[in-house]
Amino acid sequence: MKKYFILSGIAIVALVFANCNSAKKATATAPPKSTYGTNVSTIMMNYCSPCHIPAQGGNKKPFDNFANVKTDIDEIIRRVEMNPNERGFMPFKKPAKLSDSTIAVFKQWKADGLME
Ligand code: HEC
Repeated sequence: MKKYFILSGIAIVALVFANCNSAKKATATAPPKSTYGTNVSTIMMNYCSPCHIPAQGGNKKPFDNFANVKTDIDEIIRRVEMNPNERGFMPFKKPAKLSDSTIAVFKQWKADGLME
């Protein structure tokens, strides 16, 4: 019986320490929240041009600005997650999807609150 008390005592102490540690790490390394300007706008410029960038001659819905991208974020995520052979897939007519890490930038931006 005594053995169990000691063991669970050790387990509790270990848990407390583990938690302190990870809590500290989490605050120390928490990445800044993503924003349209820092994280999203370059992706739109790189992958959604020229069609959605009026300055480059695009005549599709303009995604060169915060307001439109914010309003359409759900539709944007839905379309970039489609497969290239599906109707509505973006980037239009490109043979491959955006990389998972690029798609993740859109999702992270949404999770972070769609800041400018
Ligand atoms: C080669 C041109 C081209 C590129 C590149 C392109 N699109 Fe499109 N996009 C279109 C066309 C054409 C339409 C209209 C047809 C349709 O809705 O499927 C469209 C429509 C859309 C719509 C629906 C807009 C609306 O009016 O509701 C979204 C959202 C969208 N694109 C997102 C994207 C995103 C995000 C990218 C970049 C990752 C991208 N597109 C890249 C041509 C393009």
